[in-house]
Amino acid sequence: MNQQHKEFRDSVKKIYQALVLVFGAVSLVACFLVYGMIDPGFSAFRQDNSVVDYAVVDEDENWDKIENGIHLRTGLKEGIGLMETVNNCTNCHSAKLVTQNRMDAARWAATIDWMQETQNLWDLGGNEEIIINYLVTNYPVKKKGRRLSLENIEWYDLEN
Ligand code: HEC
Repeated sequence: MNQQHKEFRDSVKKIYQALVLVFGAVSLVACFLVYGMIDPGFSAFRQDNSVVDYAVVDEDENWDKIENGIHLRTGLKEGIGLMETVNNCTNCHSAKLVTQNRMDAARWAATIDWMQETQNLWDLGGNEEIIINYLVTNYPVKKKGRRLSLENIEWYDLEN
């Protein structure tokens, strides 16, 4: 191989390498541009959970929100034992079924026993007393069959 031939081959090799490099760079830029058209925000490369976070935060805030003394999600009244009642008594049926029944402590205990025996209600442990107290305090037995005593009546004298 003479000297000239070798030089020629070397320069061809260099040009070829430069071309490969340029082609590589151009295709990289092209990929970038095409991707930029599909996903202008390049969101696939960002770890941006803000949208999801907002949703979770909102839900958390409202989940056990109490407004004007009413636990919004269940309609139960605010009071000692509210959350124990919410967490144990609104899973299977609505809180309405609970509150429309006005019972004394003994009958509540019997109703809970009945649910435990026949409806798979779990053992409430120490919460049973808390829940029963909550129910008899906030949803007391309504007196029936006798009207409530009259109060704050302004009597007036009959005139002739
Ligand atoms: C494991 C599920 C479950 C849980 C938890 C549960 N209950 Fe019940 N409860 C039932 C079922 C089932 C019925 C029957 C519903 C029906 O008749 O449609 C019922 C019925 C009732 C009734 C109506 C009883 C009647 O005589 O008609 C009341 C009141 C009641 N539950 C209160 C409660 C209270 C208070 C709690 C919390 C301590 C509670 N429940 C938790 C399953 C449950």
